[in-house]
Amino acid sequence: MLRPYIDTRRPPNGRIDALRFVPFELERWQSTWENRVRYNLSESGVHPLSIQELLDLAGAPPEPLLDVRLGYSQSNGTDLLRSRIAALYPGVSPEQILVTTGSAEANFVVCWRLIEPGDRVAVMLPNYLQTWGLAQNFGAQVQGFVLHAEAGWEPAAEEVRSAIAPGTKLVVVTNPHNPTGHVLSAEMRKAIVSRAAEVGAWLLADEVYQGAERERPATASFWGSYERVIVVNGLSKAYGLPGLRIGWVVGPPGFSGEAWARHDYTTIGPAGASDHLAAVALEPRVRERVLERTRGILRSNYPVIERWLKRFGDTFSWHAPQAGAICLVKYRQGISALDLVERMRAEHSVLLVPGDHFGLPHHIRFGFGEELHHFEAALAETERGLKRVFTD
Ligand SMILES: Cc1ncc(COP(=O)(O)O)c(C=O)c1O
Repeated sequence: MLRPYIDTRRPPNGRIDALRFVPFELERWQSTWENRVRYNLSESGVHPLSIQELLDLAGAPPEPLLDVRLGYSQSNGTDLLRSRIAALYPGVSPEQILVTTGSAEANFVVCWRLIEPGDRVAVMLPNYLQTWGLAQNFGAQVQGFVLHAEAGWEPAAEEVRSAIAPGTKLVVVTNPHNPTGHVLSAEMRKAIVSRAAEVGAWLLADEVYQGAERERPATASFWGSYERVIVVNGLSKAYGLPGLRIGWVVGPPGFSGEAWARHDYTTIGPAGASDHLAAVALEPRVRERVLERTRGILRSNYPVIERWLKRFGDTFSWHAPQAGAICLVKYRQGISALDLVERMRAEHSVLLVPGDHFGLPHHIRFGFGEELHHFEAALAETERGLKRVFTD
């Protein structure tokens, strides 16, 4: 299991700041290779919509998009987009919304606003390690609380309590979760919220997979469960629109303004064309259709990967994901996941994600949201590769 990063290259004068950088290994891996391989199984969302497909789903003509002026758009998000996002959260006004460049930027500005050197931050492990790395890069001490495979990836209540120790500044939950696809039980949500409240910590809920549930109703937001909850979400996963780079922050009154002041230093504002298309996607009827498309892909593709995994006999063990186009799989062979994925990339042009990038060795994460025919071809090539890798 992953330990917080400790830089061993301390120069003699003790000034470590410039050296102490925790890289985001998952994103480095994907950024480097995802557009250079034949079969990309590293993606955690569904096959993205084209602009034309989105407009068709919306029954909208292209002219309003073509008329978008390429100036600076409203930097915290247009009024229309912020009001459509606010409508998703009971009691929230558009002033409480900050629109960002992806949910990645939303997490970044929230962490920047909240974390100071020496703070304690509690994060789920395994995880999408953005906040885990950022917290360390901002000088915090990070405490992980483990999700247990044998409990269907639910954390243990007593471990949550001890990770969220008195003095903790921020607790981060990813729900639904990446890479396990797990949705926290109602009891565990309550336990996390009440412990955060007991120690007075902020609670950041990254809900970017909300709406990408395969067989169950949409996961309830943490919004409204506690006055120090901040929600991050965006259009990349459940909506199949990662290329728009639209995310958002929902915070208590005043919070989004403070996050906006950080966003002035990062990307200034979202692209106007993206803001326009995001408002199209979040119009209530269109939103339903977009989410239904996503769930349709998940329902048709998951059985394909499940059958494929079973064909390997007892090589793999996994829990069926409850949300997201991701399946986290443990394998029995001794090869490290880092070596395994590198061989699959170099020898078979298949991109997988090693569990190490989530803090979990000997696992691989498969993305299963691709178009079916391409996905089946990718699995066929992966099977050829894995048979070689596992027998060498
Ligand atoms: C949990 C989680 N949060 C945030 C992100 C970043 O997503 P975006 O493309 O919206 O910036 C990802 C991407 O994989 C993710 O898995």
